[in-house]
Amino acid sequence: MRAQLERDFERFGRDLPRDFAGYVRERYRIDLSARYLGFPLPHPVGKGSGQLSLNQDQLEADRDAGLAFVVLKTVIAEDPAGERSMGAWAVHETRMKVERRRSSAGRESWTVTWKGRGWDRPFEEYLALVRAAAELTRSGALIAVPSVKYHLPALGEPFREAEYRHTTEALARAWGSEPLPLEKDFSPTLAGDRLADEQAQILRWLREVPGQIRAGATGAPPRLALKLMNARHDDDFQLRMLEAARGADALVVFNRLWSVEQAVAYGGYDLSARNLRVLAALRERGLDHPPLTGTGNVSTGQVLLEYARLGCESVQLHTLFQLPLSEYPAVSGSRQQRALHLLFFDPTCGVIAGLLALEAAGELSRVGGELRFLDLCRSAGEKH
Ligand SMILES: Cc1cc2nc3c(=O)[nH]c(=O)nc-3n(C[C@H](O)[C@H](O)[C@H](O)COP(=O)(O)O)c2cc1C
Repeated sequence: MRAQLERDFERFGRDLPRDFAGYVRERYRIDLSARYLGFPLPHPVGKGSGQLSLNQDQLEADRDAGLAFVVLKTVIAEDPAGERSMGAWAVHETRMKVERRRSSAGRESWTVTWKGRGWDRPFEEYLALVRAAAELTRSGALIAVPSVKYHLPALGEPFREAEYRHTTEALARAWGSEPLPLEKDFSPTLAGDRLADEQAQILRWLREVPGQIRAGATGAPPRLALKLMNARHDDDFQLRMLEAARGADALVVFNRLWSVEQAVAYGGYDLSARNLRVLAALRERGLDHPPLTGTGNVSTGQVLLEYARLGCESVQLHTLFQLPLSEYPAVSGSRQQRALHLLFFDPTCGVIAGLLALEAAGELSRVGGELRFLDLCRSAGEKH
């Protein structure tokens, strides 16, 4: 198997087959099947919301590369008059800087520095992208899901229901079939905002937002993932956030860290270390929670498997799809293909090598002759 993996790493570095998951199942008897927001996936790797999911061309390139799912850029909700309570998040900024980042523990990785925020074009254009995403999803080639930032009130203030209703309805119509899958983004820029100073306020959002979104739909209620921020409070509060968010159908854990000094969001090993620490505490306490999807510095198969072993049934990446070409071991293909190649086939820190090592250590067993990725994610605490 090791020799086979070396050979596959070499040849797939020139050309990764779109259905590499089918190949892995046949050749290695490893079932990479995964899940995101109720969708079955051929493998666990998708693209997180951001500047890499702004248009149909990007979605088609993701489909061709073989990504399992994509979350569209976050749109800012609006009411029937076009008013947006979170309008400050619709910032136009094109410049992104891909930088090395050393974590506080001295580990090198990458981060993307960018001063922009949400979707900065007309809502109508976003609806056109949602129509294209729905078509791709229905074709079975790629799951592509919209993302929204809705009104978040201060304590004592009501939610702006008209904004919730108008936006959810418009997205559901554009999606065209039921139910609408949807991510609600609580972003790092929000974590850095004065609105998020108060813990009680954040907990109220997490408890009440799912009901607000569902109440806004006239047809079947949307299937809803909450993408949680890393609040500027301690790990215990992060666990209280997870508890408060139990009304969602899935949780994306956790968006980037916020640097107060530089006023930018960042990632790297500081981000994955914090996320994994909180997920380990969640597992230790055996708290009940919706299915999890990990995000944050998934830069090797090893990091991916760490998220999986703490319950994440899939992962969402952004930074790894933006590195300089010289950073990937593959010599051709799109960045998405090169990232998949690295994540799955690297003979030392790829997912296949990692799953075989877990089997050798007696930590994962074959079922019906197969090693199954989802077996890693199981825990007593989960609902399903
Ligand atoms: C430039 C940039 C823009 C982003 N925009 C959004 C966004 O609009 N909505 C959102 O939910 N997440 C956004 N993210 C977060 C990513 O989806 C992802 O969760 C995060 O970067 C952690 O993954 P990574 O370490 O692989 O980059 C953005 C990230 C970057 C780097």
